[in-house]
Amino acid sequence: MIIKVLGSAAGGGFPQWNCNCRNCVAVRAGTPGFRARTQSSLAVSRDGESWALLNASPDLRQQLGQTPELHANPKHGLRHSPIKAAVLTNGDVDHVIGLVNLREAQPFSIYGTDRVLDIIKSNSVFQVLAEPLVPRITLPLDKAVPLSGAGVDLGLTVEAFAVPGKVALYLEDASAGEDFGTQEGDTIGLKVSDPATKKSFFYIPGCATIDEPLARRLKGASIVFFDGTLFTDDEMIEQGLLGKTGARMGHISMSGPSGSIAAFSKLEVGRLIYVHINNSNPALDENSAARKAIDGAGWEVGYDGLEVRL
Ligand code: MLT
Ligand code: MN
Ligand code: ZN
Repeated sequence: MIIKVLGSAAGGGFPQWNCNCRNCVAVRAGTPGFRARTQSSLAVSRDGESWALLNASPDLRQQLGQTPELHANPKHGLRHSPIKAAVLTNGDVDHVIGLVNLREAQPFSIYGTDRVLDIIKSNSVFQVLAEPLVPRITLPLDKAVPLSGAGVDLGLTVEAFAVPGKVALYLEDASAGEDFGTQEGDTIGLKVSDPATKKSFFYIPGCATIDEPLARRLKGASIVFFDGTLFTDDEMIEQGLLGKTGARMGHISMSGPSGSIAAFSKLEVGRLIYVHINNSNPALDENSAARKAIDGAGWEVGYDGLEVRL
């Protein structure tokens, strides 16, 4: 399997267009130790020819331009795309808007839970991806299903599972109480497997907390790409950026007793890679104490273009 990180930043990207926080100013100025990042997405392939996107970010067009494996190949005729499927982990803007870049009458399949596919169905702009050319395929929970699209079997399976999280920001229902109307299927993690080699990895770009069932599922995994939105729960408030904690946004923090570094310390995962990193996160500075803490705990900080083979 080949896994490529197309975008390693959270919603807004890095730098974020309207942000003058310490990190955004530093990366715009080309300060050593800072690297620009596009919004949250991975691509995966078994053979290097046919690919599935894991989320479709608003930066997809730029990401495709930077990834020759995903370019149209003239040997396949006048119109061609290596992208045969797109799998969605939630309905957030940073994970679904890139789908509209994939119009132009090109066949592929969209996979998601019914909750997320309902968003795609009820927002008519997504009808530019007309069915049946672009079928929507419901992902069941806790069941591995084969990935295919445009008549091609990708030779991979994907298993979706519910993770603690929150309904998409633009669908929050303030009258519904503390969970804003969140339902099962609003946020999922993915286990992508190659049945031929029995190798697999996990992709969980949004997760509010690592509860017992999730810890059990991830124990001993070979690779986990995980929610690295914030380093500390209140960093956006501290920096005067936005009056919300990570918990309020449905994102666990890296640090602290209930953070991801602590939670994974007992799970014996082979390789831990943060993705979906928010521009406020001090770990974006390669020379920061936060980055040293992450390095010391055995985590990697994902970056655009990172390739993993397994
Ligand atoms: C998130 O990850 O919390 C969302 O992408 C936020 C947003 O929609 O901007
Ligand atoms: Mn996001
Ligand atoms: Zn910023």
